[in-house]
Amino acid sequence: MADTRLVVGDITTAEVDAIVNAANERMLGGGGVDGAIHRAAGPDLLAECRKVPAVNGIRCPTGEARITGAGNLPARYVIHTVGPVYHQVSHPAALLASAYRNSLQLALDNACRSIAFPAISCGVFGYPLEAAAKVALETCAARDYESLNIVFYLFDETTYSAWHRSLSTR
Ligand code: APR
Repeated sequence: MADTRLVVGDITTAEVDAIVNAANERMLGGGGVDGAIHRAAGPDLLAECRKVPAVNGIRCPTGEARITGAGNLPARYVIHTVGPVYHQVSHPAALLASAYRNSLQLALDNACRSIAFPAISCGVFGYPLEAAAKVALETCAARDYESLNIVFYLFDETTYSAWHRSLSTR
């Protein structure tokens, strides 16, 4: 299993090659961690997002991921991914796993050695913490990603505890 660490903190401070953003399909910013990342990265990040091709206003369909520069953040890349809105999709676990997998694959494709994840879909998108933690850690544990150092930046103790419990039972 890749070196997987859990921290309680603000992902915009993560000193890694790639910081993952829990975005929406338009990929033009938002609240939560999306807002924090854009605020910390500065306007260059939004300018890069605008350059990502959109089909009917969608730059990143749910479960997919896109990579951009990181503006003023202490990282080389921001990987924008869109998790499922828990109560709106029929297969939330599959789409959440896909968001993690596509983010990890983009990190590997861009020679990253370290990646920081927030708790994708666990805020506005309403994904239950225990279930999200299980999907996140199982997906990251795949042998394909064992060269990556992975750190989860969890924004509060409740979320951290859910990840910690899931990691302890793996
Ligand atoms: N660092 C790390 N985690 C954070 C930060 C931060 N600075 N700010 C918020 N979080 C946490 C939230 O507490 C939650 O646990 O990130 C997790 C994901 O919550 P959201 O940011 O609400 O993301 P999500 O649930 O995936 O909803 C995405 O919200 O902000 C909009 O544009 C975004 O439409 C999209 C939707």
